[in-house]
Amino acid sequence: MLKPELVEKLNEQITSEANAAQIYLQMCLWCEDLGLAGAAAFFRSHVSEEMSHRDRLVDYMIECDAKVALEAIPAPRADYKDLIEVINVAYAHEQMVTKQIHDLARIALDDDDFSTFNMLQWFIAEQREELMLFRGIVDYIRLSGFDGTGGDEMVNMNKYLAGLSASHAS
Ligand code: FEO
Repeated sequence: MLKPELVEKLNEQITSEANAAQIYLQMCLWCEDLGLAGAAAFFRSHVSEEMSHRDRLVDYMIECDAKVALEAIPAPRADYKDLIEVINVAYAHEQMVTKQIHDLARIALDDDDFSTFNMLQWFIAEQREELMLFRGIVDYIRLSGFDGTGGDEMVNMNKYLAGLSASHAS
C-alpha cells in the first residue's frame, strides 16, 4: 500500500512526464517549421520516450492498486529565439525532472518504501543518461562554434541531432 504522499507525488510525476512529451512535441514542431528535419526527429524521438515514462509510472500505480488521477497539462512554449535556446530549455527541463525523481526517491526511502525506491532506480539511471545526452549537445555547440544562426553550421547541427535521434533509443 503506497502512502498518500507518494500517491500524490507519483501522480504529479505522471503529469510531469506527459508535460515533457508536450514540450518536446512543440520543440519538434518549431524545428519542422524551420525545415530542420534532423533536429525535429531528435525531439520527436523524445516524445514517445516521455510517454513511455508516463506509462511506466501508471503501470506501477496499477500494480500497487493506487489511484491514478490525471491532471491538466499546461500549453507548452511555442516560440524560441534559436535552436540553441531550444536545447538549453530542454536541458534545463531535464535537470528539473531529475530533481523531481530524486525528491521522489528520497520520500520513498524516508517511508521505508523499498518497492517504490526500487522502481525509481530505473528513472534515476534514465535521468543520468538524459543529462549526459544534453550536456554532450551543449558541449558540441560550444566546440563547433555554432551560434544559432543559419548557414553551414546550422546544417551541421541539424545533421548532428539527426544522428543522435537515430542512436538514442528509449
Ligand atoms: Fe522523462 Fe526526459 O524525463
